[in-house]
Amino acid sequence: MLMPYRDIPAEPEVDAPDADTVLLANRVEKTYPNGTHALDEVRLRVQRGDFVSLLGPSGCGKSTLLKMFAGLESPSHGHIRWAGADTPAKSGLKTAMVFQEATLMPWATVQANVRLPLDLAKVPAVDSGPRVQKALESVGLARFGESYPRELSGGMQMRVSIARALVTEPDVLLMDEPFGALDEFTRLRLDADLRALWAQRNGSGQPLSVVFVTHSISEAVYLSSRVVMMAARPGRMVADLPVAEPVRDEEFRLSNPFAAYCRDLSIRLLAASGEQHT
Ligand SMILES: Nc1ncnc2c1ncn2[C@@H]1O[C@H](COP(=O)(O)OP(=O)(O)OP(=O)(O)O)[C@@H](O)[C@H]1O
Ligand SMILES: [Mg+2]
Repeated sequence: MLMPYRDIPAEPEVDAPDADTVLLANRVEKTYPNGTHALDEVRLRVQRGDFVSLLGPSGCGKSTLLKMFAGLESPSHGHIRWAGADTPAKSGLKTAMVFQEATLMPWATVQANVRLPLDLAKVPAVDSGPRVQKALESVGLARFGESYPRELSGGMQMRVSIARALVTEPDVLLMDEPFGALDEFTRLRLDADLRALWAQRNGSGQPLSVVFVTHSISEAVYLSSRVVMMAARPGRMVADLPVAEPVRDEEFRLSNPFAAYCRDLSIRLLAASGEQHT
């Protein structure tokens, strides 16, 4: 039996300001200058405190959409709204992005790497020091502030990259396959830590909304409150699956509902790949 999906809305989402909507993509199209039609009529609403995964095959436009939410790309048609505003700056939302590679400065210590966004914002050292330490603690690296990136494992470097994103205390965290290059054990560990971090923020009354890009069905199901599935050529939304389970732990990962979610998404992903427009 297939899971109860919410249909992708046929009508455009309204722009009416809604205190709970942090990100809105409304009928977004993207055609790159070389003619590649990367996104077609994409609609997505991200609510405050959501953990939304974008799941889909290579080339379906996941990174393109994420870059638009980061304000790094513009739609060719349609629009993006940040808490109702037409630019991230006007919205007052703090947005941070984490890429697939840790992209650390190799010549700088872990502390200096994590402090970078605060230095760029000219936050005085007396304030930035404790914030850097808090961000490092939240990713389990409190003791590694003086280390250099080359002295850390790939998983630890990725934790530094996440700490650098968290140090600004963002409202929205945009993550583009952050754990894609890591081995399976490290990835499972970081998935669990990320989910715990998100749950902690949402329990503290300072909700964190996450948009997380992945190729991995099981990772998407484990992490997300919603999995939005995309198909390629042109990139488009094909399904929106709420994952209702409140507790994400090893028991959930080994449970029948988890397997059912994964199986269901696999079937839909295969069906969507077979329906590619030419
Ligand atoms: N700057 C660009 N100029 C031209 N075409 C681009 C550009 N960036 C992406 N594309 C094309 O747009 C489509 C979507 O690319 P995008 O990187 O968003 O996909 P993706 O879903 O993130 O893929 P992957 O899973 O491989 O990272 C692809 O066909 C890609 O070749
Ligand atoms: Mg990508």
